[in-house]
Formats: sequence, structure tokens, C-alpha cells
Amino acid sequence: MRHRLFLMLALLVAMAAQGKTLVVYYSYTGNCEEIVTSLTEKITADVLEIEPVEKGLHYEANNYALGSQLLNAINAAPNDAASYPAIDPVTTSLADYSTVIIVTPLWWSQMAAIMQTYLFNYGPQMAGKNVGLIVSSWSSGISQVENDCKRLVPNGNYFSKSLWINHSNHSNRTTLIENWLSEINFNTVTGIAEIKADELKPKGIYNLSGQRLIREPEHGVYIVDGVKKVK
Ligand SMILES: Cc1cc2nc3c(=O)[nH]c(=O)nc-3n(C[C@H](O)[C@H](O)[C@H](O)COP(=O)(O)O)c2cc1C
Repeated sequence: MRHRLFLMLALLVAMAAQGKTLVVYYSYTGNCEEIVTSLTEKITADVLEIEPVEKGLHYEANNYALGSQLLNAINAAPNDAASYPAIDPVTTSLADYSTVIIVTPLWWSQMAAIMQTYLFNYGPQMAGKNVGLIVSSWSSGISQVENDCKRLVPNGNYFSKSLWINHSNHSNRTTLIENWLSEINFNTVTGIAEIKADELKPKGIYNLSGQRLIREPEHGVYIVDGVKKVK
């Protein structure tokens, strides 16, 4: 096990020289989380989950009324930080990454409000970085989400296309992700050779000292099935 962990850490260090990839996501009902799991089986990336400060809210209740209310506030004053719902503090520094892939749900045809908060705060720091967008919706098309992304990350070096995964093709996400990575020339653009090897990924939850944990910690940096997570 230690040998495998050593190999994995050596792999991460080697990649640092070329520029790392961060996958940042928000997920309310779990679809984006599943997309991130499928994505990180294909590429080597750190993962950052964005969470609202207020837990346990029912964004889907009363025909998505709360989600609608949050988006209306943003739309009324998109340049005012106070319009955006508060998110938990983020400690991940974008300076460590050359590529950021944003994975977000669509709400009322727009980018989910919680992800908008993250991008309002950190989007300007993504200037010049490779930026990818993956959107999960029930059925609506994603052009307004792409517009939100460009408003919040105006100077990102966007991949040639975004990936839309709707409800009816969610179960086919692994193939869609593979095709998308190929279409955007992910490896060529990022300069990262596809060196992901599943056999190097120890299954289970570990801290950075290689000790196996029973469950995911509430905060900190740890590794789940070979994928580094920051909470
Ligand atoms: C507040 C809210 C608004 C939504 N609005 C739409 C919509 O306008 N069109 C649509 O196709 N899906 C809509 N959805 C469904 C989500 O986009 C979809 O279920 C997505 O897969 C959720 O991702 P998640 O499971 O990662 O949260 C909405 C969901 C919520 C909670």
C-alpha cells in the first residue's frame, strides 16, 4: 500500500511541473457529484466542492421557489457581492492550477446560484487559465449557463466547447465525458499526458500521511479512491 501511495504522490509531483487541473463543483441532488466522480476516473485532478453556508435548504420546494429567489437577487445586481448566497470558506489556491473545470447544475436555465458565488469571488483569478464547463440539467439547454460563466470568468481561456449532460443521458456520462475530453483535445491543451492509471489509485479514504480513515473528515485534505479532495 505504501509503495502504491508513493507512486501516486510521485505522479502528482511530476504533474505539478506541467500545471495541475482543479475540478470545482456544486451539487444539490448529487448528479454533478456523480459527474465529477466519472470525470476524475478519466483525468488526474484535484477536486473542490462548493457548499452553501446555510445547510438543509430545499431549493427545489414549491416549484424551485428558493432557487428562483436566489437567482433573481443575482440578476437584479450581478456586480454586488451582497447579491450572492454565502458559501463556505475556500482554502484552495488557484495559483496552483493551470486548468479549472467547473461542474454545475442548471437552475432556471442559469448557473446554480451557489456556483455563481464561487465564480464571482474567484473567477477573476482564472484569467489566462484553461477553463472547462460541464452542466447538468433535467432537460433545459445550457447557453445561459455558458453566458453566466463568461460573465463571471471573463478572461478564462475556454475550451472549444462545454459539456451538457441532461437527465436522459446522465447514465451515459462516462462515454460523454470521454468524447468531450477528446473533442476539446484536453491533453494537448493542458499539456498533461494522460497518465491516469487506475491501478495506482488505492481504494478507500486516506489522509496525506497514508493512514486509512473510516470516513471522510469534515474539513481538510484527504484522498478518496485515489482522488485528492479538499473540504
Ligand atoms: C432550483 C432548481 C432549478 C432548476 N431549474 C431547472 C431548469 O430550469 N431546467 C432544467 O432542465 N432543470 C432544472 N433543474 C434541475 C437540475 O438542473 C438537475 O436536476 C441537475 O441534474 C441537478 O444537479 P445536482 O443533482 O448536481 O444538484 C433545477 C433544479 C433546481 C434545484
